[in-house]
Amino acid sequence: MTAPVLGIIGGTGLTQLSNLEVSRRQVVRTPFGEPSGALTFGRIHDREVIFLARHGYGHTIAPHQVNYRANMWALHAEGVQRVVSIASVGGIASGLGPGVLCVPDQIIDYTWGRKSTFFEGPDQPVTHIDFTHPYDERLRQDLLRAARAIGEKIVEGGVYATTQGPRLETAAEINRLERDGATVVGMTGMPEAALARELSLAYATLTVVVNHAAGRGDSVDGISLDDIKAVLQESLGRARRILEKLLEDCVSP
Ligand code: HPA
Repeated sequence: MTAPVLGIIGGTGLTQLSNLEVSRRQVVRTPFGEPSGALTFGRIHDREVIFLARHGYGHTIAPHQVNYRANMWALHAEGVQRVVSIASVGGIASGLGPGVLCVPDQIIDYTWGRKSTFFEGPDQPVTHIDFTHPYDERLRQDLLRAARAIGEKIVEGGVYATTQGPRLETAAEINRLERDGATVVGMTGMPEAALARELSLAYATLTVVVNHAAGRGDSVDGISLDDIKAVLQESLGRARRILEKLLEDCVSP
């Protein structure tokens, strides 16, 4: 059996890929516990992929409760070397309003209390990964090329602030994130990216802006969850098409 070309981690609203010809589902146990759900094996454009819904197939696992270690370990154990994650985010920088797609190139981590390394315990050497550039540049470029090839506008870089959640932020917190240099805010970017690096997986994130961050744009007086749902529906279709194109002819060997 050939190794899958890509692992795909679906975020909020993306619990399945309609364009995936599913061949099997498999529950994988790892030394770090169970992933968010069974891995879904299948093909898109005749390329083997493994899909995993980050929040579980019934969307029941909150961002701070996701077993990020088990998810990444399971994908790695099944032979994946590249992982694209899809994440919905709030837009902080101007121009990053609902419906905008963005492939960030940097991360700031504001999470706490999450299991964020494989290297702990008495028999594990202390290990410091290089994380200067948290995303795999080649995979980022592949995603951007795929988007361009289908005429999809996409923001080519950004700083993804990862907050603890599950609540959304206050307006003052968003002001602080902006001063720190963040352009989008979400709850699942970390430790996922760092764990991918610990396993030497190439990892990149396609973010979908589903709302103005708190205190910005039409979220000055609050964030409407109904509006988020409507934007998600429409934007995830575009994210799916980018993935499809990526698998059709844009994924680097
Ligand atoms: N903040 C944090 N996470 C999010 C947001 C937000 O505004 N929108 C979608 N995920």
